Formats: sequence, structure tokens, C-alpha cells
Amino acid sequence: MLLSVRIITPLFILLAGVQADLNTDNCKLISSSESEQNTLRLLEPLTNQEFIAKKQQPEPYSYIFQVCGDVGGLKNAGLVQKNEKDEKLVLIGNYNQTRAIKGSDWIMLIYEGGEKYDSHCSNEPRKAMIMISCSKSDKDNFSVVLEDNKKKVGCYYLFELDTKVLCPANSSETTQQTPSKLSGGSIFLIVVFSCLAVYLTGGFLYQRLVVGAKGVEQFPNYAFWSQIGNLSADGCDFVCRSRGNRAEPPTYRGVATEPLGEESEERDDHLLPM
Ligand SMILES: *[C@@H]1O[C@H](CO)[C@@H](O)[C@H](O)[C@H]1NC(C)=O
Ligand SMILES: *[C@@H]1O[C@H](CO)[C@@H](O)[C@H](O)[C@H]1NC(C)=O
Ligand SMILES: *[C@@H]1O[C@H](CO)[C@@H](O)[C@H](O)[C@H]1NC(C)=O
Repeated sequence: MLLSVRIITPLFILLAGVQADLNTDNCKLISSSESEQNTLRLLEPLTNQEFIAKKQQPEPYSYIFQVCGDVGGLKNAGLVQKNEKDEKLVLIGNYNQTRAIKGSDWIMLIYEGGEKYDSHCSNEPRKAMIMISCSKSDKDNFSVVLEDNKKKVGCYYLFELDTKVLCPANSSETTQQTPSKLSGGSIFLIVVFSCLAVYLTGGFLYQRLVVGAKGVEQFPNYAFWSQIGNLSADGCDFVCRSRGNRAEPPTYRGVATEPLGEESEERDDHLLPM
């Protein structure tokens, strides 16, 4: 099980890397950097679906977003604003001008090249910033945060997308950490049992093949172990059995009652079944 996970997981990653037609490859990065390309690939599970967020102020708008896919029937449009009253579309950002910035459990996706502002923000093109972050919830949540357009340059629309796609996958991590989580005690036991197994197997083969022993005598150091067995049986007999059944009561009585002298010895006698 552990082995198969270890072998299959890298194989799967390898295949995913080799696979050519990823939807996220439709996004064109402004800077063609390898790390941003890898960041984009992490968003692959979020492609081919529309995310819609609504906002009532100043007008009822809905914002439609796709990861590296067309929205509102506009080529290259990754995020558009739709006025619910007159159905008018405003392009906020194109996915052919993308940036992707990655943190530990979040990705900032930026679409630039939207429709130009006509009165403010120095007439620069609109820009969408989508903060995609890990959320334990099963349902993705896309929402509008703000439109920052009260300045001369660098205006942007900010959105949030909460999804569990970006949560650190801890199932494989846990599997890999298991060996280091073994306590000293269990490592000791494993070593002891391994040595025991080697001793038994080696000794068994030696007794059988070299010495030519048969039956129980094939066990390594049979005489020694059987003696140990008998001794411990005696020991157990001595410790565990109740007084009345003991084979040699005089020895015990001698040890235990010696300091008390003969009187007590006589007093004890009627308790014994002999
Ligand atoms: C992105 O797509 C838009 C619309 O198709 C086009 O006008 C623009 O030139 C493209 N930009 C880049 C950098 O390819
Ligand atoms: C979605 O996110 C917004 C903003 O963070 C929050 O107000 C709203 O309650 C969330 N909706 C759900 C269903 O979690
Ligand atoms: C990841 O860890 C959290 C808590 O540490 C746990 O609740 C969750 O079930 C784990 N997920 C997986 C896939 O193992």
C-alpha cells in the first residue's frame, strides 16, 4: 500500500507534467517565466467552469470569471462585468495577459488589458486581480472585494476565490512522515525482532543443513533454550503457585520462617496438608 502510493504518485505527477493540452496553457503570461507557468498549472482543476459574483452598489453588477477560458462570448476575456439592467458587458481583464503569483496556500491571478477607463485612472486599461486561496469548504466561493479606481494610476478590481483546490494535500505528506514519527521504543522493538528473525532463520538453516538436526532440535541452541525454558517454568512455579501445592514446602518454610524459630514452625504445621 505504502509502496504503491510512493511509486504511483511520482508517476502520476510525471504524466501530468508530460500531458500537452492543459487548459491553463491557454493563458498567456506577460513574463514567460517557468515558475509562473508552474503556478498556473496548479489552477488546472478550476478551469472549464464559470464563477459568478454579484454586487448591488453602485449598480447591480455581476462579475463572471474563468480560469484561462472565454467568458461572455468574448475571445481572450477572462473576467467581465455585466450590468444586470442593460446587459452591457465591460471587459475587466484578458487571460492572454496573465500574471500568476504563488504563496504557501494562495495564488494571485492577474488579468490585464481590460477596457480602458474613460474618465479616471489616466485612461489606463482595466485590470482584474483574483486572490485564490485555500478554504476547507467543499463549495468554491467567488466574491467581489473592491474596485480601486480613485487614483491616477494602478487601478484594479479585486476578487476572491476560496477553494480547497489550493489547500496543501496532506494525505501524501502524512504517508511520507510516518517513518520519522516512529518512537524510539518501536524502533528498538523492530531491531530486536529483526535480529530474532535473523537468528532463528540462520540458526535453523545451520542446524538443519550443517549439523543435520531433525525435528525440534533444528532450533538453534536447542539444548540451551530448552534449559532456559525449564528454568523459567521452575521459576514461574515457585512464584505463581499457591503455597499448598508447592512441591518442596520444607525449603520455603526454612527460608521464610527461619528467624522465627521452632515455635512458629510447629504452629505452621497444621496448615499444611501433610
Ligand atoms: C489579447 O486578446 C485581445 C482580444 O483578442 C487582443 O486584442 C490583444 O491584442 C491580445 N493581447 C496579447 C498580448 O496577445
Ligand atoms: C463567500 O465569501 C464572502 C466574502 O468573504 C462571504 O461574505 C460569504 O459569506 C461567503 N459565502 C459562503 C457561502 O461561504
Ligand atoms: C488534513 O489535515 C487535517 C487536520 O490536520 C485533517 O482534518 C484532514 O482530514 C486532512 N486531510 C487529508 C486529506 O488527509
